[in-house]
Amino acid sequence: MDVTIAPAEKLGGSIRVPGDKSISHRAAMMGAIAAGTTSIANFLWADDCRSTLSCLRALGVNVVERGGALIIKGEGPRLRPAPVVLDAGNSGTTVRLLAGLLAGQPFATEVTGDESLRARPMDRVAVPLRLMGAAVETSNTSGLPMRVHGGALRGITYTPPVASAQVKSAVLLAGLYADGETTVIEPVPTRDHTERMLEFFGAGVTRHNAHISVQRSTLRGRPTTVPGDISSAAFILTAAAAVPGSEVTVTGVGINPTRTGVLDVLREMGAEVAVRRDDEWAGEPVGTVTVRGRGLHGVAIGGEMIPRVIDELPVLCVAATTASGTTEITDAAELRVKEADRIGSIAAALRDLSAEVEERADGLTIYGSRLKGGRVDSHGDHRLAMAFAVAGLLAAAPVTVARAEAVAVSFPGFFETVEAIRR
Ligand code: S3P
Repeated sequence: MDVTIAPAEKLGGSIRVPGDKSISHRAAMMGAIAAGTTSIANFLWADDCRSTLSCLRALGVNVVERGGALIIKGEGPRLRPAPVVLDAGNSGTTVRLLAGLLAGQPFATEVTGDESLRARPMDRVAVPLRLMGAAVETSNTSGLPMRVHGGALRGITYTPPVASAQVKSAVLLAGLYADGETTVIEPVPTRDHTERMLEFFGAGVTRHNAHISVQRSTLRGRPTTVPGDISSAAFILTAAAAVPGSEVTVTGVGINPTRTGVLDVLREMGAEVAVRRDDEWAGEPVGTVTVRGRGLHGVAIGGEMIPRVIDELPVLCVAATTASGTTEITDAAELRVKEADRIGSIAAALRDLSAEVEERADGLTIYGSRLKGGRVDSHGDHRLAMAFAVAGLLAAAPVTVARAEAVAVSFPGFFETVEAIRR
């Protein structure tokens, strides 16, 4: 499906965004292996999280929707053998976190996904889960389909070779089933939703600097509420930052510091950013974020900032075209193994819109200049589709995004929200 976005004169208003994708996956998976009922309010009803639910149902978990909330009747850590090959669709978080749960199950499960997911690396979870004692087979390109035959696990101390919350989470979830203690040592801090939620569900978790440890535990089901997704809010807030005179507020949004790098970057680029903490939901800080656009200037983004902005880099690259000076992104090679090769795809799309961009193995340099209109391809990647829609708001003429339906992976209603803030 093609969607055409016209340039914006100004953006304004106060909005909410759908529930956080990372936290929704975790709440569903932990509810599935907990003893007792877990109700999840503000669950993200989007394609990726539905993939998690269909895998859990195939593993015998009682999952129902009631009044918009998700209700899971957990029966404890043991799942049932799936009668089918599990399909994780487009969702890397589904397959990698689920691998941790499957490693603790005394039966074999096969998991696959769509064309994009089948091309993504799975050895990063297969390697530590094998060290814990699970039999894990991947395809001959270290991808999907993946077969996990779990059983008795032993605790390990593991330092992932890449900074990845998905890998950390897979090992910690498998640690719930392992003898002794399981420790992940993070090379660079990544989103800590798994640690927070394990604690919330009653697991024995300790954290000392980069060391995160979990003991064999049975989780207890609980009511939870998912904060709004800061990564979804980022498309709207970044657009507001890049259109001078705009002022947009997002309420009920997660402001976990491992996720708010985008706000720090926008501030450094010259936007006015106000954050107010209002509450805590299920161990996660929730607040109100307001961004006022005053014109942007270029920045350098690299090092420890990268995991804090990994999913926001596509839209930050688009905003960087409006900035004075250059924006340089380094240490971001992980972008090449997301739902698409985001470095190559962003460079190609921005060039199609007449921007000057240099592409490197681990990042990009973007030179400020007004984008022209045109037609660009999302490659079926939800974050590229939304970032290129923002390009339409910022360009001198309309931008048409091909395969725009991909937004349903994480932000159903995205295009309606964009039109609602147009002033
Ligand atoms: C996620 C972790 C990140 C992120 C992805 C969601 C998670 O991936 O890009 O969208 O929910 O744990 P990596 O762990 O591969 O960096």
